[in-house]
Amino acid sequence: MDLQYENDYSGIVEADRANVWHHLTQHKKFETVDPLIIIEGKGNRVWNQKGREHLDATSGGVWTVNVGYGRTQIADAVRDQLVKMNYFAGSMGTIPGAKFAERLISKMPGMSRVYYSNSGSEANEKAYKIVRQISHNKFGGKKQKILYRSRDYHGTTIAALASGGQDQRKGQYGPFPDGFIEVPHCLEYRSQFGDVTDYGVQAANAIEEVILREGADTVGGLVLEPVTAGGGVITPPAGYWERVQEICKKYEILLIIDEVVCGLGRTGTWFGYQHYGIEPDMVTMAKGVASGYAAISCTVTTEAVFDMFKDNPDDPMSFFRDISTFGGCTGGPAAALENMKILEDENLLENCAQMGEYMFGKLEEIQAKYPKVSGQVRGKGLFLGLELVKDVETREPLDETLVQGIVADCMQHSAVIIGATNRSLAGFNNTLCLSPALISTKSDLDEVATAIDGAMSRVLA
Ligand SMILES: Cc1ncc(COP(=O)(O)O)c(C=O)c1O
Repeated sequence: MDLQYENDYSGIVEADRANVWHHLTQHKKFETVDPLIIIEGKGNRVWNQKGREHLDATSGGVWTVNVGYGRTQIADAVRDQLVKMNYFAGSMGTIPGAKFAERLISKMPGMSRVYYSNSGSEANEKAYKIVRQISHNKFGGKKQKILYRSRDYHGTTIAALASGGQDQRKGQYGPFPDGFIEVPHCLEYRSQFGDVTDYGVQAANAIEEVILREGADTVGGLVLEPVTAGGGVITPPAGYWERVQEICKKYEILLIIDEVVCGLGRTGTWFGYQHYGIEPDMVTMAKGVASGYAAISCTVTTEAVFDMFKDNPDDPMSFFRDISTFGGCTGGPAAALENMKILEDENLLENCAQMGEYMFGKLEEIQAKYPKVSGQVRGKGLFLGLELVKDVETREPLDETLVQGIVADCMQHSAVIIGATNRSLAGFNNTLCLSPALISTKSDLDEVATAIDGAMSRVLA
């Protein structure tokens, strides 16, 4: 599909260059090149200010637009809701808020309460506040510490960043609040224990070691991504989750699963944790909840967690004294309801699982074609990564400039947008990231694979 661009966007480009501060971007380059402005999107294609069509294999850059662009069904539902009732603070209920909570909980056996806010960072902050308040109310101020894992990311606000396992995201933004403690990553390709047969169990046991070192009575929560996203698309090794769950139960540690990327279908199930039989105490989600049609995030808890905040009505401090102004926007749950309907009506979870396998195979073909530099293909559903190295024998990471060169070549040469781990871990921003919309077809994915193949042949020549 080719869109006609008769408009002159030069004024927009200049306004952007003069006044917009872009996310995660060093701006010096815009003194000589134009910033890219995305004008329009349909399905998994977007068009820039010059009318150039791009296949977006990143769902909006950061794993967000799961159902694809241009969904009038969602826009109509949001519009209808906004003219009827756009906002009321979350201390009251709203029709879409109640309906979406009910629908969401129907997909999450064992969970029962939905707390609305408006970003992934904020959803995680709520979970941390819940842990802290339980520490005060139930454990006499003990069990305040929250464990997070090396390489994981949980958001950009200062406390969310304190719980981030990525040195480059955290660097220069400290000091951070106390009580956030790192546990080792679970990337078997970069095993900390040598070549072992039970890596998953050992990686989980490493969490227990941290708990024992800190004192189990000081640790109240453990936050983990089901599949690590920006830290390198890390799927958990066999045996890992079973052991993690055991450890959490043994030491009475609340397990918080960060589904901000995996949530709402990205891995081929409603939630990433559902692949691994995990029973979380809290689940946070944002990006795919409404596919970016409205800002919405959720902190979902079990009834047991929720009950701890209502069992003492005589204590004026005992309930969850938290508010998120925009958590009361009705556009979020209205969009989320339609988003979920599309995922179901179009069988997008099944498509995601099938197309994910297809794309995994395509990446393996690329790996076979470039065996010296293709370290490992990883991922689940349409959430995939290819870790690039200088030499498969030594596993030394490929230079970041070359990794970024491949991303740039896909964009310039093939008009395909792919991603790569970016300013996450010093020396380890070497994984190409793919997260196309869940509507993607084999021919879309062939186009992505051809673009990567061509880029690797040119950049690594
Ligand atoms: C796993 C994970 N959690 C949390 C966040 C933070 O979400 P937000 O940018 O909406 O605050 C992100 C963002 O990329 C993420 O990848």
